[in-house]
Amino acid sequence: MSAVPNTTPTNGHREGDPSGPIIRLENVKKSFGGPPVLDGVSIDFAPAQTTVIMGPSGCGKSVTLKHIVGLLRPDSGSVYFDGRRVDHLTERQWMPIRLQIGLLFQMGALFDSMSVGSNIEFPLIEHTKLSKEERRSRIKQALEVVDMAGAEDRQPTQLSGGQRKRVALARAIVLRPRVVLYDEPTTGLDPVRSDGINELIIKLRQTMGVTNIVVTHDLTSARKIADRVIMLLGGKVAADGSFRSLERSRDERIQHFLTGTYARDEDDETMTVQPESRRETV
Ligand SMILES: Nc1ncnc2c1ncn2[C@@H]1O[C@H](COP(=O)(O)OP(=O)(O)OP(=O)(O)O)[C@@H](O)[C@H]1O
Ligand SMILES: [Mg+2]
Repeated sequence: MSAVPNTTPTNGHREGDPSGPIIRLENVKKSFGGPPVLDGVSIDFAPAQTTVIMGPSGCGKSVTLKHIVGLLRPDSGSVYFDGRRVDHLTERQWMPIRLQIGLLFQMGALFDSMSVGSNIEFPLIEHTKLSKEERRSRIKQALEVVDMAGAEDRQPTQLSGGQRKRVALARAIVLRPRVVLYDEPTTGLDPVRSDGINELIIKLRQTMGVTNIVVTHDLTSARKIADRVIMLLGGKVAADGSFRSLERSRDERIQHFLTGTYARDEDDETMTVQPESRRETV
C-alpha cells in the first residue's frame, strides 16, 4: 500500500466540510507521451451545483472526468474528494469513493443480454448487501426518477436511444451517489429527448442535492443546466463562469467555439490555439 503524501488541500479545506468543494483538481498535468493533454488544470467543484465542461474534441474533457473518478492518475498535481487527497490511493482505497460517484459514460452501454431491471440491479448486487426485496424497491425508485416507471422487464434492445440513456442514468444513480459525471449525455438524441435528459439532470440536483459534472458539446443543454461552465482549451481552463458570461467573453477562441466556427488543424482533432495561452475568468 503506497503512502499518501500531503493529504490536506492547500486551501485548508477539511474532510466532510460542507462549505468546501466536493471535488478539487489542483494543477493537474497529464500527457500520454505527446504534448500535454491537461497542462495544469485547477477546478473546485462546489457541492449540489451543475458544472458543465466544454471544449473542442480531443481537448481532454473525458480525461478530466477519468481523473475525477480515479480511472486515470495525474502525472503531477492532485485530486481531492471531499477534502481528502485521492490521486495516490490504491484501487482498493478508491472503492468507497467511487461508490459515491455515478457515471454516465460517453457510450453509456447497457448489457443487452439483461433486462432493464437486471442492468440496474447489477451495481446493487456488486456493492451492497441489500435483500432481493430491497433491491427491487431501489430499482423501482431509480426508474421512477428517470420517468421510466414499470420498465423493469423490458429488454434494452426494445428501447429508443433516449430511453436507453434514461436507463443508464437510473443505473448510475441507483447507489445514490453524491456526484454524477455525465459524458455527452445528449449526444445522438433529438431535441425533445435531449431536453428530457436536461430536465433529469436539473431534477437530480434540485431534489437530491447531487453534484453534477457534465461534459457536453450541446450548447442548448449547457445554457439550460449549467450553474457554471468551464471551457478547456489547449490543456488549460480558458474560461470559468456562467453560460451568459461566456457568451459575453471577448476571448476569440471562446466566441469561435460558441458559434461553431473555430479553426481546426489538419487532423480535425485539435483546435488551433493562439500561441499565448490566456486564461480569462468571465
Ligand atoms: N488512455 C489514453 N491513452 C493515450 N491517449 C489518450 C488516452 N486517453 C485520452 N487520450 C488522448 O488525450 C486527448 C484527449 O482525449 P479526451 O478523450 O479527453 O478528449 P475529449 O475532450 O473528451 O474529446 P471528445 O469531445 O472527442 O470526446 C486525445 O488526444 C486522446 O487521444
Ligand atoms: Mg470525450
